[in-house]
Amino acid sequence: MDEVVIRAAVSADATVLARLRYQFRSTLEPAAEPEAAFLGRCAAWMADRLARPGSWLCWVAVEADVVIGMVWLLPLEKIPNPVAESERHGYISSLYVRPECQAGGVGSHLLDACLRHCRAEQYDAVILWPTPRSRSLYARFGFEVREDLLERRPG
Ligand SMILES: CC(C)(COP(=O)(O)OP(=O)(O)OC[C@H]1O[C@@H](n2cnc3c(N)ncnc32)[C@H](O)[C@@H]1OP(=O)(O)O)[C@@H](O)C(=O)NCCC(=O)NCCS
Repeated sequence: MDEVVIRAAVSADATVLARLRYQFRSTLEPAAEPEAAFLGRCAAWMADRLARPGSWLCWVAVEADVVIGMVWLLPLEKIPNPVAESERHGYISSLYVRPECQAGGVGSHLLDACLRHCRAEQYDAVILWPTPRSRSLYARFGFEVREDLLERRPG
């Protein structure tokens, strides 16, 4: 196995990242949109967000020049407050490693890079919705079920 490098994603990665996003979500449930239409829409969205200051950030895992995994982070601005408290939360999404590369530590490296950024930038809470199988990974990085968080779903 070649060395795996973790780096920040740039807009030029968008086409590859859109494909990973499609793989990830369409294996969890059937796609409701034709693949080509989704890839075009998603790649444009990703290229835009990765170029926009203050918007989504993404880290990719690269092996032999091939992107094999990704993780996305949205900085959530808080309203300014006068007490000694960080003014930013983080929302992590779409942690994904290509199936043939899973369970070899790549996802942990991606999550570690993302959380190191959150620490360096003094984020307050970092939240995410895990898949059932990935809960053990997040638990190892300090994520826990909280009793002081409310969520409302439509319907
Ligand atoms: C979750 C995922 C990114 C982890 O990356 P990885 O390189 O496989 O993980 P690592 O080798 O660093 O760590 C292993 C941990 O990953 C998780 N994991 C392993 N295979 C997994 C799979 N097929 N699906 C979900 N999570 C998995 C488990 O928590 C595992 O820990 P455990 O074996 O002690 O239970 C990767 O497995 C994946 O892309 N899974 C499918 C997509 C997914 O469920 N993403 C999470 C979104 S919240």
